[in-house]
Amino acid sequence: MIAAVCTRYGPPEVIRIAEVADPKPGEADVLIRVHATTVTTADWRIRAMAMPAPIFRLIAPLVLGLRGPRNQVLGTECTGVVERVGARVRAFRPGDRVIAVTDMRMGAHAEFVCVREDAALTTLPANLTFDQAVAIPFGALVALRYLRDLAAVKAGQRVLVIGASGAIGVAAVQFARYLGAHVTGVCSTANVDLVRSLGAATVIDRQIEDFHQGGAAYDVVLDTVGATSFARCKHMLKPRGQFLAVLMGLTEFGQMAWTMFAGGRRVRGALVTASKADVELLMKLAEAGQLRPIIDSSYPLQRIVEAHRRVDSGRKVGSVVVTVA
Ligand SMILES: NC(=O)c1ccc[n+]([C@@H]2O[C@H](COP(=O)([O-])OP(=O)(O)OC[C@H]3O[C@@H](n4cnc5c(N)ncnc54)[C@H](OP(=O)(O)O)[C@@H]3O)[C@@H](O)[C@H]2O)c1
Repeated sequence: MIAAVCTRYGPPEVIRIAEVADPKPGEADVLIRVHATTVTTADWRIRAMAMPAPIFRLIAPLVLGLRGPRNQVLGTECTGVVERVGARVRAFRPGDRVIAVTDMRMGAHAEFVCVREDAALTTLPANLTFDQAVAIPFGALVALRYLRDLAAVKAGQRVLVIGASGAIGVAAVQFARYLGAHVTGVCSTANVDLVRSLGAATVIDRQIEDFHQGGAAYDVVLDTVGATSFARCKHMLKPRGQFLAVLMGLTEFGQMAWTMFAGGRRVRGALVTASKADVELLMKLAEAGQLRPIIDSSYPLQRIVEAHRRVDSGRKVGSVVVTVA
C-alpha cells in the first residue's frame, strides 16, 4: 500500500510517499480502507521532535525512536470503509463507514489501517462526510478529558478558553457551551466571528486586548496552546477555580501536586488517550449538530508535506485534513 513515511526527525520535507507492506489483520482486527486522516500537532511534535518541555526532550527519543520515529507512518486518526474483518469480529462488517483513533500507535497516514474491534473505533453517522468526521476527535478528545473529567464543568460556570480557534480550542468552546458554561474565547482578529459562532458569549481579540486583565472572574481557565501560565492567571480564577494546562512541563507537574494538597485554586492536566466510549459520544454529538467540525484546509495524501507545513505554522484553524481514497 501507499503511505506517508517519516524515517528521520526534521522539517515537513522529511516526509515522503512510499510503498510499504499492507497491514495484516488478526482474528480480532478490523482492516480499514482509509478515506481521510489528519495532520495534527501530535504529528508535528513527533516529526520535528518538537517537545514542549526539556523533560520531554530527554525522554521522547527513548520512547519514540532515537534518530527517527519507530512507527514510521504517522497519523493518529482516520475515517474510511471496513475492507475486511478477523474471524472473531462481531460489531463490524465489510462496507461499514467507520472512524478510528489510533493514538500513539499511529499509522493513519496510509491507504489501510488495522485496528482491534474493541479499540477507539465506531461507525460514522450518516450525516457526516469522511472529511468532517475525521476533523473532530483529536481536539474534542482533549476538550472532553479536560472540561468533563478534570474540571467537571457545570452549567452557569465561567470558562476561559485560550487558543479558542485551534483544534482543541474549537472543540473546547463548543463542549463548554454544551455543558451550559458561559464561555469566553481568546483568539486573533481573523477568528473572532468563528469563535463567537461556536458558542462563546464573549471573545477577546488577543491582538487588541490582554486577556490577563480583570479580577477573579473564571471557574476554569483552559490554556490549549501554552500561551500563559498559572502564575499569570491565578488572579483571574475564583477562589476554587482551576487552571487547565494542556501543555505541561516540570513546573506544571509540580504545581499540580502542590495545589492538590494545598486546596484553593488548582492546576490540572493530563495526557489524553482515546476510548471507544468517548469517540462514540463525539460522533453522537456531531450527528446531533452539537459539535461542529472545523476544517482549516484539505490536501490529498500526495501533498501531505504541505499539510505538515500548515500545521507547523501554528496558525491553523481547527483541523488539517488529508484525503486518501
Ligand atoms: N495534553 C495532551 O494530551 C495533548 C493532546 C493533544 C495536543 N496537545 C497539545 O496541545 C497544543 C494545542 O494543540 P492544537 O492542535 O489545538 O493547536 P493548533 O490547532 O495548532 O492551535 C493553533 C491556534 O492557536 C492559536 N495560537 C497560536 N499561538 C498563540 C498564542 N501565543 N496565544 C494564544 N493563541 C495562540 C492560534 O489562534 P489565533 O491566531 O486565532 O489566536 C492558532 O489558530 C499542542 O501544542 C499539542 O502538542 C496536548
